[in-house]
Amino acid sequence: MEKTYIVANWKSNKTESDALTWLTDFGETTFPENKVIAVCPSFSVLSAVSRKVEEKQLPLMVGAQNISPFEEGAYTGEQNGGQLKEFVTLVIIGHSERRNHFHETDDEIAQKVNQALAHNLIPLLCIQDRNTPVPQGVEMVAYEPISAIGTGHPDTPEDAEAVAKAIKEQNPHVSVILYGGSVTADDVNSFTRCESISGVLVGKASLDPQSFQKIIENA
Ligand code: PGA
Repeated sequence: MEKTYIVANWKSNKTESDALTWLTDFGETTFPENKVIAVCPSFSVLSAVSRKVEEKQLPLMVGAQNISPFEEGAYTGEQNGGQLKEFVTLVIIGHSERRNHFHETDDEIAQKVNQALAHNLIPLLCIQDRNTPVPQGVEMVAYEPISAIGTGHPDTPEDAEAVAKAIKEQNPHVSVILYGGSVTADDVNSFTRCESISGVLVGKASLDPQSFQKIIENA
């Protein structure tokens, strides 16, 4: 059965107590086996979130939103792959907010992908259009057009499907493509039913556990 991935990107939101409340409210519901759910909180709450997920056996994968391009060492402020591996199985890399606000380049992003792979983490690479380079080893990509992120104006499913199809054709090593950008419970299915799209990356609408639950149900 083909899997549908629903990944929450909490961005720079939620204190530890907010995150734990979210998990409590999200509950211990089980989902159909073909739905794979992940949450990507800030670094500061990864430990608490992953502990709670394990303790309660919640059907959630935990991911990070960034990774150091370097191994451990003298890199003040960075979280390296070995440190992340204690808490997460996947890591978002190359989000447009990191490219724009923190000036991440394609080269740095490729280094981050290498670090993720070296530590057996799944790199979830965000691309902004069909020309964004996809480094070797990346199997999971999220297509997130900048105009759709946080604007309430999602891409059309037709355009998202066309880009997803092109990405797969150009990068045979990519097997999973998600769509991201203003996904809600109302529009999620218009994307997940596209042939080349295997799920969604959800920002704002994942901050509330009930709205995220609805997205999972409708996906
Ligand atoms: P949004 O964010 O759902 O708030 O548009 C998506 C993302 O940036 O991953």
